[in-house]
Amino acid sequence: MKPPVLAAALVLTASLAAAAVSSAGDSTSMLERGKLLVTYGGCNDCHTPGWQEADGRIAVSHWMTGSSIGFKGRWGVSYPANVRLLFQEISEDQWLFSVRTRGGHPPMHWTDLRALSTDDQRAIYRFIHSLGPAGTVSPAAVPPWETPKTPVIDTVPH
Ligand code: HEC
Repeated sequence: MKPPVLAAALVLTASLAAAAVSSAGDSTSMLERGKLLVTYGGCNDCHTPGWQEADGRIAVSHWMTGSSIGFKGRWGVSYPANVRLLFQEISEDQWLFSVRTRGGHPPMHWTDLRALSTDDQRAIYRFIHSLGPAGTVSPAAVPPWETPKTPVIDTVPH
């Protein structure tokens, strides 16, 4: 996984590069841009099972299917959502609304996503939505006072 500062810098760089592309674009270029932003934004690091172990050699059909390995911190334990299923349930406008307003559990990259243009945020939705549903729903977040029933990555320095 990339350190948060580096990941943020990468997302910002990606957004600047994408900003050079004309704003609306046709749907194929939106999907390509979405794929680039998801790849460069490090989304697969957390949301695609086995991504880091396989050094990113995972078929696109498995991307963003979520994880049952939790991230443990002061918030309890959070699980990278199955975005393939979620994006079939929520609309593009609901996604844009969450990016603008949402502050979910760490280590999800909400702040990085907010740095992108609205077109880039739309492109991410359209690309993941276009892949269709796959996988199963990730476990629900566990509050700090409960013990998780899955493996976790401890984000607290010891
Ligand atoms: C460092 C790990 C990590 C990275 C990188 C990451 N996420 Fe997440 N993501 C999470 C976790 C953990 C959650 C669950 C957060 C919670 O419980 O509130 C989550 C939640 C989500 C959700 C669900 C939001 C909801 O309404 O429930 C979406 C959509 C999402 N991520 C998309 C993305 C996209 C797109 C990227 C790339 C820009 C990304 N994530 C990068 C860990 C990550």
